Amino acid sequence: MDPNGLIAPVNELGYPAPFWFLIFFRVLGFTLHLLPMNLWYAGTITAMLLGLSRVPEARRFSARLMSQMPFIIAFGVNLGIVPLLFLQVMGYRVFYSATILMAWQWLSVIALLCLAYYGVYIYAVGLRTVGMDALARWQRASGWLSALLFIVIAVIFHSAMLTMAEPGSWPALAEQSGRAAAVYGTAHALGNTALWTRMLFFLGLAMTTTAAYVAFDGAVLAGRESSEYRSWTRGFAPKFYTFAVLVYAGGGLLYAAGWEPGLREYMSSGSLLPLNLLTVLGPGLPLLILWLGRNVPAAGLWALIAQFLALGLQAVSRQLMQNQQLAPYLDIAADPLKMQIGPLAMFLVSFVAGLGVLGWIIARLVEANRKGVVSGE
Ligand code: HEM
Repeated sequence: MDPNGLIAPVNELGYPAPFWFLIFFRVLGFTLHLLPMNLWYAGTITAMLLGLSRVPEARRFSARLMSQMPFIIAFGVNLGIVPLLFLQVMGYRVFYSATILMAWQWLSVIALLCLAYYGVYIYAVGLRTVGMDALARWQRASGWLSALLFIVIAVIFHSAMLTMAEPGSWPALAEQSGRAAAVYGTAHALGNTALWTRMLFFLGLAMTTTAAYVAFDGAVLAGRESSEYRSWTRGFAPKFYTFAVLVYAGGGLLYAAGWEPGLREYMSSGSLLPLNLLTVLGPGLPLLILWLGRNVPAAGLWALIAQFLALGLQAVSRQLMQNQQLAPYLDIAADPLKMQIGPLAMFLVSFVAGLGVLGWIIARLVEANRKGVVSGE
């Protein structure tokens, strides 16, 4: 079977906006999705593990993060829609084929996410009503189940994104999970080593974001907490970040070792070398801020800003890599341009308004948490 036969034909309607616009918003949207997504991917399991600690401040952070999680999930899911829109517009020729091959697990994301979201709510409401020490067994189980479900959903996303960028693997997947021209949607990438190395790399990255968030929580959101708690965040964050960087680096090395030689050469040569080096070293800046700023109360804010920049670099490099992986099969920049000003204007207005509303909500949350310090509550 020829993989080209499984790639969707070019859409005669063309792209509704210039290619640079589509790619810019896909990368920006993905960066915005990455920050909260990293917090539920690595942060939920971290919070549950810290909840078992004997250190009161570690348990406090656990309770704080799990209480904030319903907001973080709501923000991150909404922000995930932005890259999804652009991925569907500019990657439709490969996105749909890959996700149809693994349709059941792809569709299951909706149900799994609803369960994980309910689980987090049950745990957060328990924290609010009875407190961490008095949580019932089923409430604790809900927290653990959510942490597990987020990891399962991440595996599904990794599978989908990996498979989408490798049309060469489709014929085998189609033959294994279908008959004649029909596929059953039961394909998976669980046997692909790249799935697990990619996951390890990504999990390490998500852990770095969680570590930066520990410091951010202490610096910006923990106005009502004790000074012991705030100084614990400044001490724990750099140590946890260092551990996370080791996972990120180990996962990254294993992942890159499995790339085709052509892809490795592309990512490490010419004008891409400085960019990709910057991407690889991106977590170095937040790490430095966290270590050097251990006695600086505002360091957590700067660490999270630096983390956001590091995530942005990851999104850019990953996009370049994906374009290169698809290059032997299709040129995603080659679709005809048929500008559609109306939908474009509607997107821009709702995007700016949506970010404005999210910014307003976050500002109110920060203000409410800081009030305790100002008024001495
Ligand atoms: C309905 C909610 C969600 C939406 C709309 C969404 C959207 C997206 C999109 C569009 C991408 C690909 C971006 C791109 O390549 O340009 C992505 C990647 C990803 N998402 Fe989400 N997402 C959602 C929920 C989740 C959840 C609950 C998780 C669980 C941890 C998650 C984990 C990931 C991961 C790990 C990737 C990167 C996969 C890879 O490249 O290997 N997402 N998401």
